[in-house]
Amino acid sequence: MAAEGRSRRDFLRRTAVTVAAGGLATVLPVAYGEPNGKRKAGDAAGVDASESASLRAHAQARGLLVGCAVIPEKLTGEPEYASLVAHQANILVPENAMKWAALRPAPDRFDFGGADTIVQFARAHKQRVRGHNLCWHEALPAWFASTVTKENAAEFLTKHIETVAGRYAGKLQAWDVVNEAIDPKSGRPDGLRKSPWLEMIGPEYIDLAFRTARKADGTALLTYNDYGIELDSPDQTAKREAVMALVRRMQASGTPIDAVGVQSHLDASTKLPGAGLQQFVRELAKMGLQVFVTEMDVNDRKITGTVEGRDQAVAEVYRNYLSMMLLEPNINVALTWGISDRYTWLNGPKYRRADGQPERPLPFNADYNPTPAFFAVRTAIDKRQLRIWH
Ligand code: G3I
Repeated sequence: MAAEGRSRRDFLRRTAVTVAAGGLATVLPVAYGEPNGKRKAGDAAGVDASESASLRAHAQARGLLVGCAVIPEKLTGEPEYASLVAHQANILVPENAMKWAALRPAPDRFDFGGADTIVQFARAHKQRVRGHNLCWHEALPAWFASTVTKENAAEFLTKHIETVAGRYAGKLQAWDVVNEAIDPKSGRPDGLRKSPWLEMIGPEYIDLAFRTARKADGTALLTYNDYGIELDSPDQTAKREAVMALVRRMQASGTPIDAVGVQSHLDASTKLPGAGLQQFVRELAKMGLQVFVTEMDVNDRKITGTVEGRDQAVAEVYRNYLSMMLLEPNINVALTWGISDRYTWLNGPKYRRADGQPERPLPFNADYNPTPAFFAVRTAIDKRQLRIWH
């Protein structure tokens, strides 16, 4: 860590320019060249600062939106984080700030502080924003269970979407309208998860959410977002098929839907996606739908050995996965779930590597230096030919 800290300072000294951005004096790392052969993982040595080479610049040149999930308190409180986000992303998504738990401190009160911070930051830096999310079984406020009932659930959901999507109408690239509604393990023939929304409103809560979102914001692309649909394992294949069936039902009943979000929380030790995901993406294209890579990260929980080896394993998954996905004409948007290993849910209380070391799942390490994953993402972006995005 100390060595990484030193190389970060060297790196910033070599590549920094100071700009005024959104009222903040921020330090922008301006460019990253290809690493030389001797470069160590997570070490900026060998980085050529002379060319403009951010993920943002490479994505922009190919008509892609590439970015990351962000934390509002870090955008305002940590200039190095803010400058990295400003420089590397042309699209942002709030990691938590637009969830019910963040927006709804009380049944009759909304707090848009964090969400507004992100939208304002994005505006100041000419970035798009995805909204995440309007309806999920997690991140519900503490008062939810004792306040929302079968009788009032539809009204709560409708008012929430009208208020939140209405506030940001015309400003967002997309909304994750419904998040993670499929769980084939529920045993239901339609594969729907037994969420509070399903149990209180019934399966029609999904249509209600999408129709209300369309009325509240006529321009955001309405997205169904889910995880565990990337691989060709029996479980993930079944889940992917259930998602496809849901989307077909929605289209058949005239429910507005524009896109499917494939979260892409991947594992560096797992065999990569095969034909199943590609067929899924192409089938959605035939149905007129876009696909977004919405939450990519690559956990290295089961990779033992050196940091260099772990970083290479993570990078290989980024390179292979995004090279495949970004060649599909209906995929123009890809986000990672965070920008730096300093702030990732994978280093939260839920997961632990056996050796106790923090995970390294993102394109920048905990000291904000680019890792091999950064170069892998950029290589995948570069393979893409120019297409125009929405
Ligand atoms: O903000 C509170 C803080 O006030 C409190 O002191 C602290 C104590 O634990 O908790 C803080 O809230 C936590 C929040 O993250 C902000 O850090 C919640 O406990 C914690 O559950 C929450 O976890 C988030 C999780 O979604 C649930 O909302 C993760 O950061 C976030 O990365 C994760 O993101 C999800 C996507 O939304 C959907 N797809 C999967 C993805 C990863 O699980």
